[in-house]
Amino acid sequence: MKLNTQNAEFIRSAAKLADCPRDSLPQIAFAGRSNVGKSSVINRLLGRKNFARVGSAPGKTTHINYFRIDKQVYFVDLPGYGYAKVSKQERARWGQLIGQWFDDASLLTLGLLLVDIRHKPTADDCTMAQWFKASGKPFVVVANKHDKIKKSEWEPNVARIRETLELPEEVPVISFSAEKGTGREELMGLILDHIQAENAAAQG
Ligand code: GTP
Ligand code: MG
Repeated sequence: MKLNTQNAEFIRSAAKLADCPRDSLPQIAFAGRSNVGKSSVINRLLGRKNFARVGSAPGKTTHINYFRIDKQVYFVDLPGYGYAKVSKQERARWGQLIGQWFDDASLLTLGLLLVDIRHKPTADDCTMAQWFKASGKPFVVVANKHDKIKKSEWEPNVARIRETLELPEEVPVISFSAEKGTGREELMGLILDHIQAENAAAQG
C-alpha cells in the first residue's frame, strides 16, 4: 500500500475518551516518557519539520493528539509520562485517561513504545510495556536518539531494553533517530504492514 505522508492533518486534541475519534480508520499510537521524542518521531516519519509540536512545555500535555494521514490512518500522540514536575492531580488525570484509552480495544491497531536508547528503561516504561502486552494488540519498541550513542553501545543497549521490558520475542526493537532519520524505512514498513492487515481484516 501507499501512504502519502504529505497529506497530514491535525484532527484534534482529546482531553477525554469521548473525544477520541472512532471511525473505521486504523490507529497507530505513540507512547513514551515526556521528552523521549514522540512528536519528533512523528515529524520524521512524515518528513515534516514542525508538524507535531516538539519540546514545548514538557509534561504539560495531558491531551491525546490525533493526526490523520492521507485519510487512511491516525497517528495518535499519547501524552508523555515520567515528568518530575507534574502535580499529583495531573498524574492521576493522565493515568485515568490512558487507562480508559487502553481499555477501549477499538482504539488501537499498533502501539509504538518509544524509549531512550541511551538509558535503561524506567519503571514507568515497564508499566507501559505491560499495558501494551495486556492490550493483546501488536506493539513495537522504538529505541530513539540512536545518534547519541557510540557504535559499541548499539547492541548492548538494545539488549538491555529488551531484557528490562521483558519483551516477547515477536516484539521488534527498532533503533531510531528522529534527528538523523535512522530506522525510518524499517518503522514505516512495519506501520504500513499493520495498516494493510487491519484493512484486510475489516473487509473480512
Ligand atoms: P512530550 O510531548 O513533552 O511528551 O515530549 P516528546 O516525547 O514529544 O519529545 P519531543 O519530540 O518534543 O523531543 C524532545 C527533545 O528531544 C527535543 O529537543 C528534540 O529535538 C529531541 N530529540 C527527539 N528525538 C531525537 C533524536 O533522535 N536525537 C536527538 N539527538 N534528539 C532528539
Ligand atoms: Mg510531544
